Amino acid sequence: MNIPRGTQDILPGQTEKWQLIEAKARELCERYQYRELRTPIFEHTDLFKRSVGDTTDIVQKEMYTFTDRGDRSLTLRPEGTAAAVRSFVENKMFGSPNQPVKLYYMGPMFRYERPQAGRFRQFVQFGVEAMGSADPAIDAEVISLAMSLYKELGLKKLKLVVNSLGDKESRMAHREALVKHFQPRIGEFCSDCQNRLEKNPMRILDCKADRDHELMKSAPSIIEYLTDDSAQYFSKVTKYLTDLGIEFEVDANLVRGLDYYNHTAFEIMSDAEGFGAITTLCGGGRYNGLVEEIGGPETPGIGFALSIERLLSALEAENVELPVNEGIDCYLVSLGDEAKDYTVGLLHNLRMAGFSAERDYQDRKIKAQFKAADRMNARYVAVLGEDELKEKKINLKSMADGEQIELPLESFIEKFKEICK
Ligand code: HAM
Repeated sequence: MNIPRGTQDILPGQTEKWQLIEAKARELCERYQYRELRTPIFEHTDLFKRSVGDTTDIVQKEMYTFTDRGDRSLTLRPEGTAAAVRSFVENKMFGSPNQPVKLYYMGPMFRYERPQAGRFRQFVQFGVEAMGSADPAIDAEVISLAMSLYKELGLKKLKLVVNSLGDKESRMAHREALVKHFQPRIGEFCSDCQNRLEKNPMRILDCKADRDHELMKSAPSIIEYLTDDSAQYFSKVTKYLTDLGIEFEVDANLVRGLDYYNHTAFEIMSDAEGFGAITTLCGGGRYNGLVEEIGGPETPGIGFALSIERLLSALEAENVELPVNEGIDCYLVSLGDEAKDYTVGLLHNLRMAGFSAERDYQDRKIKAQFKAADRMNARYVAVLGEDELKEKKINLKSMADGEQIELPLESFIEKFKEICK
């Protein structure tokens, strides 16, 4: 039996890196004051149709949708924003005196995409959502949080791209211009794009199939259609980014693949040489209006999501070694049945005292036990032979410098604590 296409096992050796990244993300959220939200892995299919949008690739082609035994249409979540907004509305978080409500989540998402480097069918997103504020400073904060995660983990070759999708009025004007631009030659585009022309022409701009059509490059860009208010909002966001010392480029063609965006949209890419074809590490933006769409009161919102898989690829491309904690505090080597029996309790006491410790379970010879201790990167090896046991002593060897001392067996744990201080 093989693992399903587009999924992966994360094995010991790798999981430590994941844990480190997850811990860093949580720690950053604590500093920025985002609190964890956990929602179900599946939601009603309609939630995604209404939020992500039914003309998007995600909804049209990529969802894992099934009917349950009660005849309900459910979908494995392809992203986290929809559920965060649903939960915000359902749990009346809009009523909390602490506004904006700042949430984060971490967990598996599912998209039926063609698997390739950096693209999985099950992947883990870390994301944040801030709901309840239309202050451009929060846009800068959200972007800064994502950038900080990458930078603090050691990435240097990053490119932040920002754009504004404007308010409703801006997008209506842009929409008209897009229809005018594409209509005369829409026959040259894929059938999805032909459908999109009337329903949602902006989606044509991120069509994977027609990416290279000449009309794509010359398409009118949203920036030219921003209302004064939208342009002002955007200039505040870029000012704050500059104040924070965050470098960025404005890319008028950045439209993002989900329908709920307006005003600020951004992506963070890896600029590292040798990084695969898919360079986007993180994507996000503002979604004023989405909370109303899901049945809540008028509430602005902004967030981002990034996958741990692509973050790991970027670290690899830049040759960054994560400082994972390898090694154990103490390995117990024993010789003879009685000494072996004794180490069962001793090992337990070491662990209860807070140390990472191990002993041999394979009835290995002494040399092989030392080798095992080496493989596990033990900082100390404690040796208990028949003679030591008789004399109620234990021999402790520091693997860093080879120094050996004898300690009384009775007070071994206490003495070991002092040594390790
Ligand atoms: P998205 O651009 O669809 O946005 O995905 C965000 C990030 O998820 C991508 O930049 C990438 O790191 C990762 N990702 C997406 N698909 C895959 C895949 N198949 N394999 C590996 N990684 C993947 C969203 O999901 C929005 N909910 C982001 C957001 C939050 N906007 C506002 N709040």
